[in-house]
Amino acid sequence: MKYLLRFLSIFFLLASCGSSKTTNVKLEADYTIAFGSCNREDEDQPLWEPILANDPDLFLWGGDNVYADTDDPEVLEKAYQQQLSNPNYLKLLNSVPVFGTWDDHDYGQNDGGKNWHLKETSQQLFLDFMNVPENSPRRSREGVYHSELLETEQGSIKVIILDTRYFRDTLQKSNEPGKRYEPSEGSILGEQQ
Ligand SMILES: [Fe+2]
Repeated sequence: MKYLLRFLSIFFLLASCGSSKTTNVKLEADYTIAFGSCNREDEDQPLWEPILANDPDLFLWGGDNVYADTDDPEVLEKAYQQQLSNPNYLKLLNSVPVFGTWDDHDYGQNDGGKNWHLKETSQQLFLDFMNVPENSPRRSREGVYHSELLETEQGSIKVIILDTRYFRDTLQKSNEPGKRYEPSEGSILGEQQ
């Protein structure tokens, strides 16, 4: 597990918002937001103890939340179940809101993009893992991007969480030894996102 900030996937906009669309998340004046990503569900996860010790108000998954790398939905579901049985992760989950996005290894395919054939099933399993209600609009739209509005005493924070897998055009493989891909034109976020 690495403590990585995935700036491409998660943006914060500090704003004074007049919107009526808010979550139930209210942050203290002196709030702490914790991040995590690149998490092997089948290995020790020493990160939760220091995260819990820092008493965060919110936790954001930056992707590769499990390493399933599979086109078998059962294997992917089992990986999520294994993560959900980690006692320290459960402690966090039961104490603060948890939002986030996926990356390739929980999407199901290393470096996968828009042509991943399991993406629709994978999306539903991801939303199950994130405890998104069955009647949420996120269940019926493509991709796992979303935003959350958090209230603080100083104003609102809009957390915009991007999906850089579901819509991403195919990467161009490189013939150069040691180089995996060439820069190429295309979309990462897709039209609607
Ligand atoms: Fe990744």
